[in-house]
Amino acid sequence: MRKNIVAGNWKMNKTLQEGVELATELRDLLSNVKPNCEVVIGVPFTHLVTVSALLHGSVIAVAAENCADKASGAYTGEVSAAMVKSTGAEYCIIGHSERRLYYGETYAILKEKTLLALNNGLKPIFCIGELKEEREAGCQNDVVKAQLEGSLFNLTEDEFTQIALAYEPVWAIGTGLTATSDQAQAMHAFIRQLIAEKYGQPTADNTSILYGGSCNAGNAKELFSKPDVDGGLIGGASLKSQEFKAIIDAF
Ligand code: PGA
Repeated sequence: MRKNIVAGNWKMNKTLQEGVELATELRDLLSNVKPNCEVVIGVPFTHLVTVSALLHGSVIAVAAENCADKASGAYTGEVSAAMVKSTGAEYCIIGHSERRLYYGETYAILKEKTLLALNNGLKPIFCIGELKEEREAGCQNDVVKAQLEGSLFNLTEDEFTQIALAYEPVWAIGTGLTATSDQAQAMHAFIRQLIAEKYGQPTADNTSILYGGSCNAGNAKELFSKPDVDGGLIGGASLKSQEFKAIIDAF
């Protein structure tokens, strides 16, 4: 059966020293607990080696927030999936709306990133979700369908089973405006149905679909109570150890 996952996404926050402090707090808070979900933290590239070493042997896995769409070579400033893997990270967030919006990441680029992550033994957490205008126009399902078809539905069934999805309505990210649990459930069920049509019901049933967008300690329990919501991708609330722990405890 699919796993429940609570994943933090630190984005471009915390210096290395501050990040080590936060990761240490979290490790200590979870040292005597067996969470009812997988726990992941997505940290900046510069933190991956240190934080992975610090969390080695703990219940917390580490994710990169991005990886390059090329395998290696003359791509100044880029960080490849192989490099990410070599730090000890296990996961890679791909296709976050901030990457799509501010860095021009297209369906084709995200398709390459996903393949490279998979080929290097990383587990992608692949983000999808509609803009506010798209939700207002009622075309959120079409948007999400196009994102899946454009970047992921080329994968083999074996490859697809390595992916976790994060549905993150862009209007809910960092805005304090959470999707209602019913809105989240409706979209997650729709996404699962698309996966079932493409890869069959067993694969759909085994795919973890996380919700992201102003998920916090106050609303996590309600969101996670929905049958198709298998956890969360947490931005702002993952920057405080106690609050992130409270979200983990929602399971
Ligand atoms: P937020 O961000 O929890 O701060 O809304 C979520 C995300 O962007 O992954």
